[in-house]
Amino acid sequence: MPKTPKETALENRAHDGAKLFSPSTERNRDAIREVFVDVMPHDGRILEIGAGTGEHAVHLASALPGVEWLAGDPDETARASIAAWIADSGLANLSGPHAIDVTQDAWGVEELAPFAGVVSINMIHIAPFAAAKGLFAGAGRLLAPGGKLFLYGPFSRNGAHTAPSNEAFDASLKARDPRWGVRDLEGDIAPLAQENGLRLEKAVEMPANNFSVVFVKD
Ligand SMILES: C[S@@+](CC[C@H](N)C(=O)[O-])C[C@H]1O[C@@H](n2cnc3c(N)ncnc32)[C@H](O)[C@@H]1O
Repeated sequence: MPKTPKETALENRAHDGAKLFSPSTERNRDAIREVFVDVMPHDGRILEIGAGTGEHAVHLASALPGVEWLAGDPDETARASIAAWIADSGLANLSGPHAIDVTQDAWGVEELAPFAGVVSINMIHIAPFAAAKGLFAGAGRLLAPGGKLFLYGPFSRNGAHTAPSNEAFDASLKARDPRWGVRDLEGDIAPLAQENGLRLEKAVEMPANNFSVVFVKD
């Protein structure tokens, strides 16, 4: 398969027509799915933000047949890939792509709320902090009481990086765009949760110094 560079992706993704293949998703999807199935609802609607290639959507929706999965991304190339993955998956419980930019006040899916879950994988450190703010504001608005927000990615904890490789990754993100960077779970993210009626339920250590982080709407 030919390689194509992708502007927001920090990796070279192979493609087959519109369908993109993410090497990092191939590495992390099974570990994410194991935790996700354990901690997230098994019915109702789950909204995926920054779905990228669409591979996580297929992998997770196929594991949760009782869930209605909606995949969104603001990037047109990503949406074309998501559409192709959805079409090829044949999954009846997976829909999209939705053109959702979390920095906008309206996400265009309000009529489908309340959601049982919102999920965003590897997004908030590869976007300005306004994206994290918008994500929490939207989750606070659109989640049902008891609904959950699931984040996956690298986080620093109480102001300290959890590994030298994450510190180097943070520096490389900031060199690319000074508005990007590894977020601090306690310093940056916990206040956003509190402002929007969400409570940190669990932070699960994942391979390669990442975390799965679960918030619940009270
Ligand atoms: C590094 S990619 C991760 C994609 C996928 N979740 C994965 O793990 O392979 C980050 C994604 O977040 C999306 N994104 C960036 N800013 C966003 C925003 N303001 N609202 C929603 N999604 C955004 C990008 O378009 C991109 O597809």
